[in-house]
Amino acid sequence: MAFIELKHLQKTYNQQQFVLKDIHVDIQKGEFFVLVGPSGSGKSTLLNMIAGLESISDGELIINDQRMNEIPPRNRHISMVFQQYALYPHLTVKQNILFNLKMRKKAKKEQEERLKDAVVLTGLESFLSRKPHELSGGQQQRVALARAIVNDAPICLMDEPLSNLDAQLRTQMRTEIRRIQQKLGLTILYVTHDQTEAMTMGDRIMVLHEGIVQQIGKPLDLYNHPQNVFVARFIGSPKMNIAKAICNKQHLVIEEKWEIELPQSISSSLPQLKEFLVGIRPEHIQLGGNLQMQVRSIEQLGHETHVTFDMPCESWTAKWSGQHPIDIGTPLSISIDPQNIYFFDRETQKVLL
Ligand SMILES: Nc1ncnc2c1ncn2[C@@H]1O[C@H](COP(=O)(O)OP(=O)(O)OP(=O)(O)O)[C@@H](O)[C@H]1O
Ligand SMILES: [Mg+2]
Repeated sequence: MAFIELKHLQKTYNQQQFVLKDIHVDIQKGEFFVLVGPSGSGKSTLLNMIAGLESISDGELIINDQRMNEIPPRNRHISMVFQQYALYPHLTVKQNILFNLKMRKKAKKEQEERLKDAVVLTGLESFLSRKPHELSGGQQQRVALARAIVNDAPICLMDEPLSNLDAQLRTQMRTEIRRIQQKLGLTILYVTHDQTEAMTMGDRIMVLHEGIVQQIGKPLDLYNHPQNVFVARFIGSPKMNIAKAICNKQHLVIEEKWEIELPQSISSSLPQLKEFLVGIRPEHIQLGGNLQMQVRSIEQLGHETHVTFDMPCESWTAKWSGQHPIDIGTPLSISIDPQNIYFFDRETQKVLL
């Protein structure tokens, strides 16, 4: 029995269009489960349905073997960190953290004990008497986190909790949330549209697109074995390069331009003389070889270099470690190892092999 079971969950706001379709997944106790997808894909809606803030149109939500559909939010034993973490501006850090416990009339002693633990975990010891406006964004974020922790709920839902922070703080908070989650054995459902956050934090990731689950798996499974073009392009940065191609015996012809010799083991599983899509990750385009390209733009990041070049359908990006002093317009020779090529059906966009 899984801890949280989403059973064929559906959501419609207007009785016509479904913003979530047939969401079906089991989440284990202590798991860090990430929901990722572009804006409007239904992430917040799903989280709110689990919290009880939105009704469930169809399907069943089971937590700890109990049907939750009709249970009011306060009885679901779930804490939530919202995207806008909504601290009460006139209350101090301590009062903000203890707000829910006070509302629930918990004993003073218990409040103090829980406060102490949450404050130590989030490193807020010296900020307790400050008001939110006297804190940095990251510190406010930690107050929201502490407020979720003191509730002592076994499940914590987080909706883009780091989106308001700068890049450096975000990286730091990622590690911190992960540490707290592991220490407390929390089950976290974490929403983000940032694939790096998903990859670095999740035990498992569910990719959502237009209310439909695209794939569920461990971060590297999604990266190495994307089931369709959407996942292939959503996970990984810069994103996977895609082009049209056909296979003629053992020759792979990309955009009627480049020819790559495929081993029999690959070509025998591909459709012959019928167009499909190929996908190549930027790091799998190697410098040197018999494919010619012209540099369109270049990004020097110091530790690596991103080189963009024109293809008939769209531009492609190559990612090379280290620094490469290359000028725009320079002709370059590259190569691609056939083992690193992904193949997708053109119509269904699903992976071919
Ligand atoms: N209260 C509502 N009434 C009607 N439609 C809604 C409501 N809330 C959300 N929607 C629609 O449901 C879809 C999913 O919205 P949701 O907020 O869940 O997306 P999201 O993945 O969280 O996006 P974002 O990354 O922008 O926060 C969107 O098309 C949105 O317009
Ligand atoms: Mg949202």
